[in-house]
Amino acid sequence: MLPVVDKPLIQYAVEEAVEAGMDQMIFITGRSKRAIADHFDKAFELEHELEAKGKEELLRIVRSIVPDHVSCIYLRQAEALGLGHAVLCALPVVGNEPFAVILADDLIDGGKQSCLAQMVQVYEYQGRSVLGVERVPQEETNKYGVVKASKLEDNVYKVESIVEKPAPDKAPSNLAVVGRYILTPRIFDKLQSTQKGAGGEIQLTDAIAALLKDEQVLAYEFQGKRYDCGSKIGYLEATVEYALKHEELSDEFRTYLHKLVGEWGAAK
Ligand code: G1P
Repeated sequence: MLPVVDKPLIQYAVEEAVEAGMDQMIFITGRSKRAIADHFDKAFELEHELEAKGKEELLRIVRSIVPDHVSCIYLRQAEALGLGHAVLCALPVVGNEPFAVILADDLIDGGKQSCLAQMVQVYEYQGRSVLGVERVPQEETNKYGVVKASKLEDNVYKVESIVEKPAPDKAPSNLAVVGRYILTPRIFDKLQSTQKGAGGEIQLTDAIAALLKDEQVLAYEFQGKRYDCGSKIGYLEATVEYALKHEELSDEFRTYLHKLVGEWGAAK
């Protein structure tokens, strides 16, 4: 629920999923995460009040939180047993269909087209699971799932192996998985038999490694910029850059930043 400028991160994730053509959102939440369901609920009282006061613009914003054709389902992961376990919680709802996973703390500005929408295009012509990846500094491989992959075409790779959080000197490459996945339903079979891995958690990465034995999996180097909002610096960068791009705030915020930087320069 951390806001970046004027929306919580989870809202950016939903907007990205909607842009990519998804019409059913499944939120895997946990203890003390009730605010997420509240955020996406229809705000009857507020809508009524805004309507009565003729506040059209605010009404439009409140109503656009979830488009009418999109439904939301909330599932609770009773214990934080890992990302793989969280994804497995969605099996009864997803069933035997391909699906996408967004980790909302990875905020991605895809520019013209969102990261997930770009990945859906790859999925549509390849019909394989697709992992969103980007190059990271070698010393940071221990923060990510990392793939060994061979290039198929521009930005698209065939995954040969994948490992969770390898030490920099053990990493098969510096191509790291970001919080975007399109997965075929066979991943659920693999998750059901995945044992605890790195950090004592049931890792999605380990299930993908098992999936590789049965199916081809692709990695897609997306166009755009990722902000790791799970880190303080990433979150600050996102806030500043999204404010600079914000329709209403851009000019005023730019002027403020110029002034602030000038003052800091003068104080040195
Ligand atoms: C998770 C995944 C990891 C992936 C990362 C992307 O790790 O386990 O494979 O690279 O998200 O953000 P976490 O950040 O939850 O430790």
